Amino acid sequence: MRKTPIDYSIVTEKIKESGIPVVGRAKIREIVRLVNEIEQATGESFIRMEMGVPGLPPAEVGVNAEIEALRNGVASKYPMIDGIPELKDQISLFVKNFLDIDVNAQNCIPTVGSMQGGFAAFMVAGRRNAKQDTVLFIDPGFPVQKQQLNVLGIPYETFDVYNYRGEKLREKLESYLSKGNISSIIYSNPNNPSWICFDETELKIIGEMSNKYDVVIMEDLAYFAMDFRQDLSKPGQAPYQASVAKYTNNYILLISSSKSFSYAGQRIGMMAISNELYKRRFADLKRFYSSDEFGHSMIYGALYALSSGTSHSAQYGLCAILKAVNSGEFNFIDSIKVYGDNAKRMKEIFLANGFKFVYDMDGEKPLADGFYFTVSYPGLTGDELLEELLYYGVSAIALSTTGSERTEGLRACVSQIRPEQFAHLQDRLKAFYQDHK
Ligand SMILES: Cc1ncc(COP(=O)(O)O)c(C=O)c1O
Repeated sequence: MRKTPIDYSIVTEKIKESGIPVVGRAKIREIVRLVNEIEQATGESFIRMEMGVPGLPPAEVGVNAEIEALRNGVASKYPMIDGIPELKDQISLFVKNFLDIDVNAQNCIPTVGSMQGGFAAFMVAGRRNAKQDTVLFIDPGFPVQKQQLNVLGIPYETFDVYNYRGEKLREKLESYLSKGNISSIIYSNPNNPSWICFDETELKIIGEMSNKYDVVIMEDLAYFAMDFRQDLSKPGQAPYQASVAKYTNNYILLISSSKSFSYAGQRIGMMAISNELYKRRFADLKRFYSSDEFGHSMIYGALYALSSGTSHSAQYGLCAILKAVNSGEFNFIDSIKVYGDNAKRMKEIFLANGFKFVYDMDGEKPLADGFYFTVSYPGLTGDELLEELLYYGVSAIALSTTGSERTEGLRACVSQIRPEQFAHLQDRLKAFYQDHK
């Protein structure tokens, strides 16, 4: 029996009981449950880096507005499917202020998290042309989006972008798009899990490809303005959050409020469809929806069928947050910058204990410190490393579940770790290092 910081026999037993054949292949929520059970059985708390949950309090202005809206009786009323008018206006203003993009308020729609926004986008963009039936992931990416496509029965293709940065991206995209079967492309920027950020050259290439092959770009801005290397916090002032919307009109922006405003629990996000795409008509949409108009199909086809709109009070909450952000009263970046500071320190601790970074460069520049980073340990696959670290009280997810080719790696999320836990992380990784030298 090995001696490890977390009782060896309990961890082994709990892994067996979980019924997960290979821990490294488990879904994020399955790891969450497994670690909860180990914590409960051993009384030890883990350094929990598996799930991207905000570790900060929610934007207070939102909470107060929600309470007020509930007191005013909104709970008994169905909201409009495409959102309350004042929220639509604020989303449109937010997109102008922080992306420098013009999207009509009509085309700005609250969704039940970006998660639902993505699902609805797949349902419409993925079905607008029978010949273009496949979604392309610029990976690594967020595993649940592939689950969504499986649920919808929509095929997808994927490649790991790490070796195709800069101009190399053009040829790689052409190799997929020239086949004619791709309906849409999805990527997150900053990227979950690698935290690489596409630059203007790459976004321009993606935009040009989108125009050339008539492919819809779903730009997943789940970590909006969280490239902390630049100050993206000033409304109406450059620099802005980089976006493909500067280079094509064939886009849907998915903007999450979960991380940027620490509002994950209320399940409200934003979808902004370009003015041009919203109005476009596609005969093949009629296979699924009553209208051939893209925007109409999104609202009265997809979103109606999914949830008939987004929680009424949460819309008031998000509206108040956006009002405060748009007016410059609330600097949302100031309240979340701490993730970058914590990542910097945590990365030092991993490096000092024999770990290496998997995605370590962002094009020509070193990677930013943000919400996630990726690590490996010499001689172990990601799946093995994930399981082995459980015996040392550290949890993460394997990159193999994210469409990454770098199967030796893990994704570590910094959000739940507080500076008081750094010493604990150091002790556990030191013990791991000693046992695995
Ligand atoms: C890349 C990416 N997209 C979408 C989401 C979902 O965001 P939301 O909480 O707004 O549904 C996440 C959440 O972790 C994410 O990482």
